[in-house]
Amino acid sequence: MARREIGVGIIGCGLMGRELASASARWLHLLDLDFAPRIIAACDINPAATEWFAANVPSVRLVTDDYQGLLADADVEAIYCAVPHNLHERIYTDVIRAGKHLLAEKPFGIDLAACQAIVDVANQNSDVLVRCSSQFPFGPGPYLISRWMAEGHFGRVIEYEAGFWHSSDLDPNKAVNWKRMIAMNGEYGCMGDLGMHVFHIPGRLGWRPKNVRALLSNIMTERPDKEGRIVPCETWDNAILCCEAATPDGSEFPMLLSMKRIAPGEGNTWFMRVMGTEFSAGFSTKNPKEIRTLEYTPGGEQAWRSLDLPHKPPYASITGSIFEFGFSDAILQMFAAFLDELAHGEDMKQPFACATPEEALASHRLFTAALESQRAAQVVAVE
Ligand SMILES: NC(=O)c1ccc[n+]([C@@H]2O[C@H](COP(=O)([O-])OP(=O)(O)OC[C@H]3O[C@@H](n4cnc5c(N)ncnc54)[C@H](O)[C@@H]3O)[C@@H](O)[C@H]2O)c1
Repeated sequence: MARREIGVGIIGCGLMGRELASASARWLHLLDLDFAPRIIAACDINPAATEWFAANVPSVRLVTDDYQGLLADADVEAIYCAVPHNLHERIYTDVIRAGKHLLAEKPFGIDLAACQAIVDVANQNSDVLVRCSSQFPFGPGPYLISRWMAEGHFGRVIEYEAGFWHSSDLDPNKAVNWKRMIAMNGEYGCMGDLGMHVFHIPGRLGWRPKNVRALLSNIMTERPDKEGRIVPCETWDNAILCCEAATPDGSEFPMLLSMKRIAPGEGNTWFMRVMGTEFSAGFSTKNPKEIRTLEYTPGGEQAWRSLDLPHKPPYASITGSIFEFGFSDAILQMFAAFLDELAHGEDMKQPFACATPEEALASHRLFTAALESQRAAQVVAVE
């Protein structure tokens, strides 16, 4: 099979930049694809970050601290960008205007205005593929449940709940970093960090929040910096968003979304639960193989069923069907979806594409309304 090699540049070689490089190096994991990435350029202002790329990614031939170098390189077709949120608008719009396809990290702009500016530039350059990172829907469990949601399996939706919970911020001695500073992370705090992950699936299906009552908590208001000095820790730690939502056919239901940096005991727990009059289903990364379902017919039994799902992600892989799916598998699958869409447009191998700019914008509208709800202690319409 002839294989198209796609030259990829990475801007931001930190936690996520390395994760994408590793996914790229693991391309042999995927079966029967006629496209593959080749990471040829890496950019970071921190020399230690780019040194890791120079040492570990043999295909990299351009290492720079100025992302303009990647934009000027004709062999770079696509860029993955994973930088602090205050840089999203400038770098993403420069990348798109340079005609490079872009897989950009969430929240896709530090605030609503920045996100809108990126979406406007993406719309003006419709020949460039622009997508927002959100990997959890590419796991076998969420993938299956979201397909059921799209097919209307659930009957009338009774309630939708999804969350993304961390706990390392419970440690008051954890040093502050850019993700806990409003200037770099944004006023959204934990919503900017975790919210797109929670919103992606309902957003894709057009399950829209009409309004929100947000409960935002800043539990640790100060932390040590790297030198041990106590400094303000400004951002929201936890967010609970109670929304009145509606499906595209107008059926209304409560949507409960939570994003927490301080959920004691939870380490990167992403979960979704859909309750319906005919069918209910739930998944959590805590039990990555398990999917829980309850099928109901009037007057019948109400019994939850637990199934260990086979390892069957959207893009077939060499992994045996009894093995577990994990975080880096989801990144690999998401990257495959991005490159599949880049290579084949609407004729992708499977139908679930990465999050679109409009979906990211819809998440910003929700988070912006949530900030207002917290300020006013009121229910606020999501425009
Ligand atoms: N999809 C996910 O699960 C996930 C997880 C964590 C973070 N993220 C997102 O990824 C992005 C980056 O987060 P991270 O955890 O990798 O952060 P990080 O701090 O580990 O990495 C960011 C990198 O950007 C570099 N950088 C800063 N300014 C730059 C510039 N002008 N040019 C080039 N590089 C620059 C920094 O030196 C750093 O190495 C954020 O948008 C974050 O929300 C996504």
